[in-house]
Amino acid sequence: MPLTDFLTELDSLQNDAAISFTAAADTAALEDARIEFLGAKSGRLKAIQKGLGTVGKDDKPAAGKRFNEVKQAIEAAFEQAQQRLAAGGPAKKAGPQFDITLPGKRLRVGRLHPISQTIDELKDIMGRLGFSAADGPEIEDEYHNFNALNIPLEHPARDPLDNFYLSVADSTSGASTGGETLLLRSQTSTVQIRVMETTRPPIRIISLGRVYRPDTADATHYPMFHQMEGLLIDRKVTMADLKSVLRLFATSYLGKDVHVRFRPSFFPFTEPSVEVDMHWNDRWMEFGGAGMVDPNVLRAVGYDPDEVSGFAFGLGVERLCMRRHGVTDIRDFYRNDVRFLEQF
Ligand code: DAH
Repeated sequence: MPLTDFLTELDSLQNDAAISFTAAADTAALEDARIEFLGAKSGRLKAIQKGLGTVGKDDKPAAGKRFNEVKQAIEAAFEQAQQRLAAGGPAKKAGPQFDITLPGKRLRVGRLHPISQTIDELKDIMGRLGFSAADGPEIEDEYHNFNALNIPLEHPARDPLDNFYLSVADSTSGASTGGETLLLRSQTSTVQIRVMETTRPPIRIISLGRVYRPDTADATHYPMFHQMEGLLIDRKVTMADLKSVLRLFATSYLGKDVHVRFRPSFFPFTEPSVEVDMHWNDRWMEFGGAGMVDPNVLRAVGYDPDEVSGFAFGLGVERLCMRRHGVTDIRDFYRNDVRFLEQF
């Protein structure tokens, strides 16, 4: 056999073997390929080896050298295929391979909004002090938002610029449009009235919910925020009771080192009225208003001010949460930025 023919046969054998070994999808297929090319009795390599004897004497060294190279290459291709199958299990079938070295995808677990968490905690604390939670509508009428709370018609708290009115009586003709005037409640004090209308004393409730005022949003204002309203009505209730309850509440929420301070103030629905400040971590901060329920309010719901008295308070929920967690911008609560929300 001429040398060139022999070398050509070797080349195509090496080629065929490489293709078969790479294509082998499992160990059985690889074994079949091994027998075809490297089989000791009737493998194709063995067959070509016989041709080596028929090459001319002078060409023998070159033919032998090339034969050994091809033999080694085919054996190497076989070993490579073996390793591939051992590492990857059943070899590349259709579909993406699973790369176990990739970092895992961490599941993001949802959680309650910080304000919802705060509301739950406040309900819990006040519940332990004997206050149960009451609810009222966010769309209110003027009677519950103002009249029954002793807020006179000319009071600036009723100003259209300070409230979200939903429908207003026709002021040009003076005629009513027929429907009553509704607004988004500007305070949770409305719930005091709704509860007293339907219950007899003693009363001990809190109400936590949204209130709305057309304020421009900045670090401390937002057109919607939350209040915790409290109301206690019984015989012989005093300011001392009010202060005790608020102090117990403050120490439960912020810690033992809180001081509660009352500053004289005015609200139409309480007399006397106070602003409630709390001192914590070297700072005084105002949290809301409070006072003894005005006799006019008691009368409006059919109670006898000579028989019962009570106190009420309204605190800002966002303020409490901000103070406790060091949040400096109320808008952070409503940006829906997960990086902020997942810290709670
Ligand atoms: N409603 C008042 C406000 O929004 C807060 C308030 C003050 C509530 C005194 C009360 C109270 O119950 O007694 O500013």
